[in-house]
Amino acid sequence: MLIKFTLNYKPVSVEAPADITLLALLRDYLKLTGTKEACEVGECGACSVILDGELVNSCLVAAPSVMGRQVITIEGIHDEDGGPNDLQRNFISHGAVQCGYCIPGMVIAGEALLSKNAKPDREEIRVALAGNLCRCTGYMQIVDAIEATANERAKKRN
Ligand code: FES
Ligand code: FES
Repeated sequence: MLIKFTLNYKPVSVEAPADITLLALLRDYLKLTGTKEACEVGECGACSVILDGELVNSCLVAAPSVMGRQVITIEGIHDEDGGPNDLQRNFISHGAVQCGYCIPGMVIAGEALLSKNAKPDREEIRVALAGNLCRCTGYMQIVDAIEATANERAKKRN
């Protein structure tokens, strides 16, 4: 079937089987491999994307269900010049990236949170990351990176 939707702010149409997941559509048919495939049962958050403004596990979303909707993947998160944005730079500078496998999902979860809550406290950040597993960093640096980004964005707004 032909699946038409908005991906990273641009319209796309892709021919794909009706019985695949959004994760497979992104990785196998659109070659966007930044969204990671891990548990495939909704438990790890490695496959996180933003669907119509909401954080979702793309391994649990049927590909045809995104018809006419807006999807943002990690490839859609960057600065104006195409380099890392402030959140991604903070992940780097706070030592929040080790193996990196969880990181696209963590960045997506961070952006989803900051789009709804511009100044989350640390508990709110932890809750927002509850569906995203990291085996490497111990989470503190990830929370630090998101908190630092919220503070920087707040300063810019003032
Ligand atoms: S791969 Fe989707 S939640 Fe783990
Ligand atoms: S940095 Fe390795 S799983 Fe998170």
